[in-house]
Amino acid sequence: MSMNLVTLLYLVASVCFIQALKGLSHPTTSIRGNVFGMAGMAIAVATTAALIVKLAGSGTGLLWVLLGLVAGGGYGAWKAKTVEMTKMPELVAFFHSMIGLAAVAIAVAAVAEPAAFGLTPPLDAALAAIPAEDGVAPRTLAPIPAGNRLELALGAFIGAVTFTGSVIAWGKLSGGSKFRLFQGAPVQFAGQHLLNLVLGVAALAFCAMFFASESALAFGIVVALGLVLGVTLIIPIGGADMPVVVSMLNSYSGWAAAGIGFSLNNPMLIIAGSLVGSSGAILSYIMCKAMNRSFFNVILGGFGGETGGPAAGAAQQRNVKSGSADDAAFVLGNAETVIIVPGYGLAVARAQHAVKELAAKLTEKGVTVKYAIHPVAGRMPGHMNVLLAEAEVPYDQVFEMEDINAEFAQADVAIILGANDVVNPAAHVKGSPIYGMPILEAHKAKTVIVNKRSMAAGYAGLDNELFYMDKTMMVFGDAKKVVEDMLKAVE
Ligand code: TAP
Repeated sequence: MSMNLVTLLYLVASVCFIQALKGLSHPTTSIRGNVFGMAGMAIAVATTAALIVKLAGSGTGLLWVLLGLVAGGGYGAWKAKTVEMTKMPELVAFFHSMIGLAAVAIAVAAVAEPAAFGLTPPLDAALAAIPAEDGVAPRTLAPIPAGNRLELALGAFIGAVTFTGSVIAWGKLSGGSKFRLFQGAPVQFAGQHLLNLVLGVAALAFCAMFFASESALAFGIVVALGLVLGVTLIIPIGGADMPVVVSMLNSYSGWAAAGIGFSLNNPMLIIAGSLVGSSGAILSYIMCKAMNRSFFNVILGGFGGETGGPAAGAAQQRNVKSGSADDAAFVLGNAETVIIVPGYGLAVARAQHAVKELAAKLTEKGVTVKYAIHPVAGRMPGHMNVLLAEAEVPYDQVFEMEDINAEFAQADVAIILGANDVVNPAAHVKGSPIYGMPILEAHKAKTVIVNKRSMAAGYAGLDNELFYMDKTMMVFGDAKKVVEDMLKAVE
């Protein structure tokens, strides 16, 4: 295989990745986008394997590569096939942590054996034979080029931050761990931001030292500081802000891969890493805007941890109006316009097919039905879009928050199915942890129906005033069962 062919195949794979991103930007083209992504990755992996055979021959090294491909590819395929949709964010955080760890491992190996990575000329026998008592290690005779030293230090640093940051994010998203660090609640202490700043500045100083001296000690300290900073950046972040953190770590993992791509002189890794890095950064920015958070606060790990505002707990003492599925069906059947707000609970209950049938039945009866999607409803970006697409809900009934918010005030009924934080008016209360986050304004509808199993709080751990409003009817129960009962009653 000639190097020209390798370059051409890498170019084809890169074009596939760009097409994949383009396709994934809309539900109707997302399947095509996925196919492009898979094709691009298959071409990139096969070309790299062929390149390894060309450069290193088919010795034990190749066996290790094949073993890695089979183990990693097999695990990835099995995980993707079996993961529940609700556990997707944890899986994504886990994958990010693996990219960060891979970047650190490659950088450490390249610093230890630069000749093996083509960063320095191979040491000939004469150089290798220089006796150790000269006090000059042979590789100091051929230093790693300055540009590569910078890429290695920065790539390893970003990789280390991504690794431990993603492990903490994975723990917070999984919840239920007995380690406080891995629970959803923010861990805060005085001087936290100053500590992050000091760690960041110190890491940059040691990067500069490695750049100037190629000191292995300075490189090791950069990696260690990155590992600590990953933890201290993510622990103060509160539950409701985790979506932005996940997409931010996604971006970091891309930049780490791109940095390592420069060191390995692999254009494919540089292009794929930059695509992930920049698209993750753009997604983080969009999500920051959607949640009214400052982009710089997110990057510096200093948001989402405010205390105050209504907390869950007082919930048990207060009265709410509750009704049965039949009562709710009666209200729905008599409405002219109904807006459905899906949330995380709908995904847990896997009630999307039942909801689609209910909406179809109501439409048949002359009711206008629309779905309102909050950008961070559920547990991953686009979670509700994926869920509704799976049930083949017509796209023209599905509206993003900014397009439908103005319609709630005219709607007869807003029916909230397993959503909580995304409709919580606490977002308008100063001092609340979700203060400033735009919400779906379901509380403005003439009647509000809320389905959930109990009065328990949502992901952000906050009580929700919407549940206590005079016009709100709570219908308790698992979303699937409740919606199926409503469907029967409407029929
Ligand atoms: P949440 O605020 O998490 O509320 C979901 C509600 O669903 C809960 O209050 C729960 O109450 C109810 N529920 C759970 N299982 C149910 C079932 N089987 N049937 C009926 N109801 C059920 O969800 P949301 O409104 O979609 O908001 C998402 C939250 O997650 C936001 O705070 C967001 O920031 C955060 N988050 C989002 C992402 C992304 S990227 N979207 C990632 C991580 C975190 P009961 O227990 O009483 O039933």
